[in-house]
Amino acid sequence: MDKPILIMEGITKEFPGVKALDGVDFELYPGEVHALMGENGAGKSTLMKILSGVYQHTAGKILLNEEEVTLNNPTVAQELGISIIHQEFNLFPNLSAAENIFIDRKEIISASGKINWSRMNAEAKALTESIGADIDVRREVQYLGVHSQQVIEIAKALSFNAKILIMDEPSAALPEDEVQKMFDVVKQLRNNGVAIVYVSHRMNEIFKIADKVTVLRDGGKVSTNKITETTEDQLISEMVGKEVGDLYPDKTKRIFNESVLNVNDFDITSKHKVSFSLRRGEILGFFGLVGSGTHTLAERIFGLKKGKGTVEINGKSILIKNPKDAMKQGIAYLPPDRHRQGLVKESSIRENMTLPILKRISNGLIIDKKAEQVINEEYIEKLSIKTPSQNQVVNLLSGGNQQKVVLAKWLTTKPDILIMEEPTRGVDVGAKAEIYRLINELSLSGLSIILISTEMPELIGMSDRILVMNEGNIVNEFKNGEADQQKLLKEASNSIDKMVV
Ligand SMILES: Nc1ncnc2c1ncn2[C@@H]1O[C@H](COP(=O)(O)OP(=O)(O)OP(=O)(O)O)[C@@H](O)[C@H]1O
Ligand SMILES: [Mg+2]
Repeated sequence: MDKPILIMEGITKEFPGVKALDGVDFELYPGEVHALMGENGAGKSTLMKILSGVYQHTAGKILLNEEEVTLNNPTVAQELGISIIHQEFNLFPNLSAAENIFIDRKEIISASGKINWSRMNAEAKALTESIGADIDVRREVQYLGVHSQQVIEIAKALSFNAKILIMDEPSAALPEDEVQKMFDVVKQLRNNGVAIVYVSHRMNEIFKIADKVTVLRDGGKVSTNKITETTEDQLISEMVGKEVGDLYPDKTKRIFNESVLNVNDFDITSKHKVSFSLRRGEILGFFGLVGSGTHTLAERIFGLKKGKGTVEINGKSILIKNPKDAMKQGIAYLPPDRHRQGLVKESSIRENMTLPILKRISNGLIIDKKAEQVINEEYIEKLSIKTPSQNQVVNLLSGGNQQKVVLAKWLTTKPDILIMEEPTRGVDVGAKAEIYRLINELSLSGLSIILISTEMPELIGMSDRILVMNEGNIVNEFKNGEADQQKLLKEASNSIDKMVV
């Protein structure tokens, strides 16, 4: 670990209206995992996009193995051994997993100039298996879940034999048990001398996996420390620059009486049915591993998927055939995958935020611009969305700030029942506390919430009850104060057949 493989010196990057980076220095050594932390919009992804040739810096220089380099496009960076797994997936939905991994690569072209399909599929399979995943690599990516897409991104980056691997929030789409598998891959790469930059908001991961940590704030570098020489509190205060206070709100003030939603005998798998009720003002948590049925359950209630079973709302039996029916009943749904389902990324924050309530803020054909502006101001402030203006195209916001726009979009509908999946994925710790406070306030004013999350501290901190799902069945219920991480994981991973004796 003597000489750095990479030196970035005085890196500055300006976008119209935004100075994303201001004179940042960053060094990387072979065989280290170097965490990069900072609030949403601090400049982490921008710095890494410069390193991987996606953006060009406005000032500063980059040295690889002590030689200055110009990384003017991603291919140049890849050829120099720098691979990146982007925060937002960059996959082609109608190509297969294997095609996505090996797109444009000469390795899979046979002597006659044709694509060697069987070799490509076999290599893709081997790569995905090497990171502990079992996916059908011939399937089109659009039919694969977020988790499989993540696996494909990692496999793709690995296929370049990278010397520097940048992972921009690689765990954001992974549940806890899968994160462990990814860590094994990261450790293996580190032992092979690969230098890894690991961008994450999850504090516990940083302390598990990183050797060093650099903190950015408002486009500037605050510190670089060995992980053994810093603490969680120190990192938080370096990132936020002020006290965060309690992350979770006081739950004891919440009251809930009558049930607003009854789900009866929903068939999630052919073997098992689920029934439960949600009370007014309650935050009902759902925990389950990938494939446990929590996601299907959300889609069923919101009318995105069909199946057997009935729904009652305020005691009345209701038929929900599609999302429009669900919205009419006061149900809103925050999907887990903002990339595909949550946002129109080419449109502005303003247009996205008021999309579901256009009827409410327009008279006939004309939108009340003033009302639109006021609503936008309110939520940009409430969720501290970092943007130069309401007119900014969502695509140009940082990942965490995009997530906040999706959340705002559904909150503006003022629903009676809000179903949220992974609401704070990729959101920094300061903004998380604000979002939790907001959710709590809403529940106090009578909003009923179904909170589906793989982040166990969030579930435990926010929920009044937690239902655990396993293989399409509700296997246990924990009341407030009863659940801990170990119990949740145990219930979620036990085989059903062993449990139902
Ligand atoms: N292409 C772009 N055009 C204009 N502004 C941009 C562009 N890319 C990033 N920005 C802005 O630069 C700043 C830094 O963004 P960046 O994506 O680097 O943040 P980040 O630290 O990765 O945040 P997050 O944790 O939310 O992912 C933000 O204010 C963002 O809106
Ligand atoms: Mg980012």
